[in-house]
Amino acid sequence: MRKVLVATIKPFAPAAVEQIKKIVEQAGYRFALLEKYTDQSELISAVADADALIIRSDKADRQVIEAGKNLKIIVRAGAGYDNIDLEAATEKGIVAMNTPGQNSNAVAELALGMMVYMARNLFNGKPGTELKGKTLGIHAYGNVGRHVARIARGFDMKVSAFDPFIPAEAIEKDGVEVLSSVEELYGKNQYISLHIPANEQTKNSINYELLSRMPNGATLVNTARKEVIDEDGLLKIFAEREDFRYVSDIAPDCADTIQEKYAGRFYFTPKKMGAQTAEANINAGIAAANQIVNFFEKGDTTFQVNK
Ligand code: 3PG
Repeated sequence: MRKVLVATIKPFAPAAVEQIKKIVEQAGYRFALLEKYTDQSELISAVADADALIIRSDKADRQVIEAGKNLKIIVRAGAGYDNIDLEAATEKGIVAMNTPGQNSNAVAELALGMMVYMARNLFNGKPGTELKGKTLGIHAYGNVGRHVARIARGFDMKVSAFDPFIPAEAIEKDGVEVLSSVEELYGKNQYISLHIPANEQTKNSINYELLSRMPNGATLVNTARKEVIDEDGLLKIFAEREDFRYVSDIAPDCADTIQEKYAGRFYFTPKKMGAQTAEANINAGIAAANQIVNFFEKGDTTFQVNK
């Protein structure tokens, strides 16, 4: 009997786990759950006899992949798959997938929520500002970026975007201005919302040069990955510009310095919170379970990311 292991340091909502289990068992497979594990060795031993693995931001590194002797498929229930060693998976003939779009509304709502929180001075009782009429630049117009645009337009923000991989018409039809370079995006917008993946091209790419282009009253919103930020550049802009603010779903490595020196100009979630809603957990969890069943039963490899 095939075994499907759900391994999550940060657990899914119980309703999501229940539904994943139901799908797995209805397909005639065995369901196994490893939640809140504290050491990678627990994942390494649990994966030993699993045929399929569902994870969130959990690390499916080479060691995990090699330990999964029966492993045929890994599904990252979420968007970013920078936590899977794709090369190792491909070498072992393991299919890696994500579940694009399933948690994106949750992430987008958090991005706007953090913008309001920062615009209102962290709810400290002092007068803040409104989002209405402010400029917002969306850096990468994928599933999350699109939801951010929709919600921001409801706030009456002036929304523009830069994404070289999406046709201009697909952006324009949402009432969003298309910009032709990343420099223009940062140069024109008081708020920037980041939605780029973390990969070799994007790591450390949000640097001093770009950030220093932002107009007065700049707020950078990061619900993507901390790795895309060049932290030396981030500290430099904090030091140079009193107007610069940074809100991020997970703290940067230099959080201690920022906390010590720039009180009131930042907010970091204690844990990655973007996809942490019951709805997102259910959507992504069900999608992951169905993708596994469809892969085993029909050979369906839609959403494979290591082709
Ligand atoms: C994603 O890439 O889907 C988000 O960052 C959510 O990650 P999480 O499932 O670990 O909360």
